[in-house]
Amino acid sequence: MPQQFSPTPRELDDIELIVSGALQGPLNAPGSPLTLALPDSVSEAAAADGAVEVVDPEGLPLARVTWPAGEVTGLSSPAYGPFRRLYLTPEQTREAYAGRTVVPVTDALTTTEITELGSLGPVLLLALVGHGTPSLSPVALLRASLLAAEALPDAAVVAVPLAAHDDPEADHALGVAVVEAYAGGDPIHALASPASDDYPTDIAAIIDSDQPAPEEQGLVVFFTGLSGSGKSTLARALMDRILEQGTRTVTSLDGDVVRRNLSAGLTFSKEDRETNIRRIGWVAAEISRHGGLAVCSPIAPFDATRQDVRRYVDDAGGAFFLVHVATPLEECERRDRKGLYAKARAGEIPEFTGISSPYEEPDDADVRVDTTGRSIEDALDDVIDGLRLAGYLDLG
Ligand code: ADX
Repeated sequence: MPQQFSPTPRELDDIELIVSGALQGPLNAPGSPLTLALPDSVSEAAAADGAVEVVDPEGLPLARVTWPAGEVTGLSSPAYGPFRRLYLTPEQTREAYAGRTVVPVTDALTTTEITELGSLGPVLLLALVGHGTPSLSPVALLRASLLAAEALPDAAVVAVPLAAHDDPEADHALGVAVVEAYAGGDPIHALASPASDDYPTDIAAIIDSDQPAPEEQGLVVFFTGLSGSGKSTLARALMDRILEQGTRTVTSLDGDVVRRNLSAGLTFSKEDRETNIRRIGWVAAEISRHGGLAVCSPIAPFDATRQDVRRYVDDAGGAFFLVHVATPLEECERRDRKGLYAKARAGEIPEFTGISSPYEEPDDADVRVDTTGRSIEDALDDVIDGLRLAGYLDLG
């Protein structure tokens, strides 16, 4: 049996469009934005087998991809995600809706746009809901498009997972190809950028709940820094201030505490530290998905893993606020509250951060705070000011 692999949402969208016939493979062709990256171990096994089996997030096999050639063959129709019934292939779309004017949409329709479309006769709203493409979340764009369709004399909605690849030119070309595949020769009506934001009331409500104001958005405050830098103390003090204010609940994901439960049994090898941070990030992102607040305080020494966490939170619709507790190693070692630096220097603790294992300083921190010679209250003010200025949290 070939290796199984669950790709990123962007890669899944690309593969789904290739399987549906809306885009041409193969993956990883020179110059093509349609790529699939496999971790080294999976890539080696895939090359040995000649193929890799792509599975959806729940493990259902979706496609077989020859490796390294990148030719895609569908195995089953995707079944995950809300409004799945609206995801049709170009062929299914032609069968159901041929003869309509096709209107690609990436945002909720305004009242003016709905009026404009009302004069076109039967229309098919092609909601481009792939990763990174719509301004709204895919589900909100579909809900808004269904409401717009109800307000039109004769309209239908089809969802198309056209993803964005951080390359406007390539994405435009892909968009044209996909929309033409769905239109199959029927007229295509391109909407101009809306001149106003005069949304019908019900559509405006969808936009509002999909894009909460920063102070209502889920938030992950992530402290990173050396052992003994003051992360846990600052995180604890921040939590207390939030609880004293009493308007929000908060979950703590402290490095030492997590290692006693969620990450019990993990070591301090690079691999296990990455696993530890990704677990913390995954939980924090889920908390932020529901508008909650998580305060994390692990060392998190590797930039790439911190970036992963940022991405998890972003994908969950939360805000990610990074605090670098930049107390220098000499000061952390001088404090040595737990006596660990002395043991690390004596060679009793291997791979100790700052001594025998690296700490990669972040260059993307929202706040940098050195606690040397400062009281906790004073240092905390920097964090609280940063959160207030960013609009996420006003603790007075
Ligand atoms: S991380 O690298 O995976 O982010 P984490 O924050 O969970 O680290 O755990 C760090 C805590 O574990 C430190 O505060 C320290 O008390 C303890 N510790 C034990 N061994 C090590 C080590 N080798 N390096 C760093 N911290 C260690």
